[in-house]
Amino acid sequence: MTITIQIPVKPLDNPLAAEVVGLDLNMDLDDQTIADLHKAWMAYPVLVVRGQQDLTMERHLEYSRRFGDLQRHTVKEILHPEFPEILVLSNRGRGGAQPINNGGAYWHSDITYEDVPPMGSILHGLITPPEGGDTLYADMTAAYDALDDATKAKLEGLKAIHTYRTRYEAMMNAGVRPVKTEEELSQWTEVIHPIARTHPETGKKAIFVNEGFTSRVEGMSDNESRDLLEHLFEHSTQDQFVYRHKWQQGDVVMWDNRCTMHRATDYDLSQERSMHRTTVRGTRPV
Ligand code: SIN
Repeated sequence: MTITIQIPVKPLDNPLAAEVVGLDLNMDLDDQTIADLHKAWMAYPVLVVRGQQDLTMERHLEYSRRFGDLQRHTVKEILHPEFPEILVLSNRGRGGAQPINNGGAYWHSDITYEDVPPMGSILHGLITPPEGGDTLYADMTAAYDALDDATKAKLEGLKAIHTYRTRYEAMMNAGVRPVKTEEELSQWTEVIHPIARTHPETGKKAIFVNEGFTSRVEGMSDNESRDLLEHLFEHSTQDQFVYRHKWQQGDVVMWDNRCTMHRATDYDLSQERSMHRTTVRGTRPV
């Protein structure tokens, strides 16, 4: 039996984020409830559902698929062996995946190094440390809106190059990602996306470059490109644009990858931090 829930949404301490109250993601939610959730997600690009300790992997996948097709991460060692559409971010290597401490301790939007980056990600906190290991989210729409007119005009039509290879090699050399051969590393080529992206559903513009995967601005000298990217990274991550999610066990956080960036913060590695992430396919940025 499917059920309809009137979803009460409680704004959190940054306009970017809200909590949906009274939802059990293990239930069969009907189309109306999913449509309401989608609407809430478009209004609040970071949507939190607490208290989902009993959410099974099968249900996490089913729930995620209600928002679109899922995509697999290209680092196969951190996919769940039985459910490869689940990315396992666990410093204990839960479920037999390679242990990693988090999905990225640097600002990034997921998988912008592909031609068609995801629309969103849905992260389930299975075991969270008592202190730290928060996830920070930056509002790239608010950051775009706050740019001065001259910078907005400058970004018009500009494109940037994204690649995973540089970032992955740095993490691999630091021992925090599985070792890959040259042939495997060469799968990550460069892709190009607009710097100011128009959200395909809300029509709002957002800054679409990130510290993690954006390497340079197309058609600019190295210095000019570095200065512009550094300015955009610094501008977008000011406190007023950032929501800090302090994890409680069982939290599910859904974020819209088209208009946010995120990064994980440090924690005591003697504590377990284990998360499952699903990734919903998106459309080519314009
Ligand atoms: C991610 O980058 O997808 C997850 C962030 C985290 O581990 O907090």
